[in-house]
Amino acid sequence: MKILAFAGSTSSTSINRELVKFVLKDFQNEEINLIDLNDFDMPVFSVDREKKGFPDQAHHFLKVIEDCDVIICSLAEHNRSYSAAFKNVFDWASRINVKVFQNKPMFLMSTSPGGYGGGNVMNTAKTFFPQFGADVKETFSLSKFYENFDLEAGVIEPEMLKDLKDKILNFKNQITN
Ligand SMILES: Cc1cc2nc3c(=O)[nH]c(=O)nc-3n(C[C@H](O)[C@H](O)[C@H](O)COP(=O)(O)O)c2cc1C
Repeated sequence: MKILAFAGSTSSTSINRELVKFVLKDFQNEEINLIDLNDFDMPVFSVDREKKGFPDQAHHFLKVIEDCDVIICSLAEHNRSYSAAFKNVFDWASRINVKVFQNKPMFLMSTSPGGYGGGNVMNTAKTFFPQFGADVKETFSLSKFYENFDLEAGVIEPEMLKDLKDKILNFKNQITN
């Protein structure tokens, strides 16, 4: 099984990337493509710019989705919504193929240092990603990242760890059945 993984962030110290990497430890026997949104740097989308053509990176983003079987991602929350970096990739890609996520099963996550764990961007994404072709199978938000996550050990708060592990198991069951 080919897994496409990404964080909705371009931060070199992205906590969402840490959460994704922790979850990927449960998929070690699978083929993993952990992409970095820094490799999809494009001009800020505009209808005027798109008249001049689409950046290669927009096609490439759609291609890595096409090439995967499932998607595991965690979105950073900026001002209650997507990071500008993710939104830009998403906007460009959606103009080529509105079904950006191409019906791939998705494990959708978010985390932030705050108590809501990126719950706002999660609510937006889980509501609207399906309109863009995402088959969202499970969702998980990790609140207070710096209290509940250790960079070596991963999620350390027992109830949150159990919740996450249960969801990983449910996700695995759904994608293999
Ligand atoms: C411009 C900006 C806006 C932010 N807005 C929010 C927010 O609305 N909600 C939140 O929980 N955290 C917010 N944060 C804090 C981010 O959750 C935090 O920077 C986190 O590390 C981002 O995820 P990342 O490390 O994966 O990039 C904001 C951070 C920045 C830089």
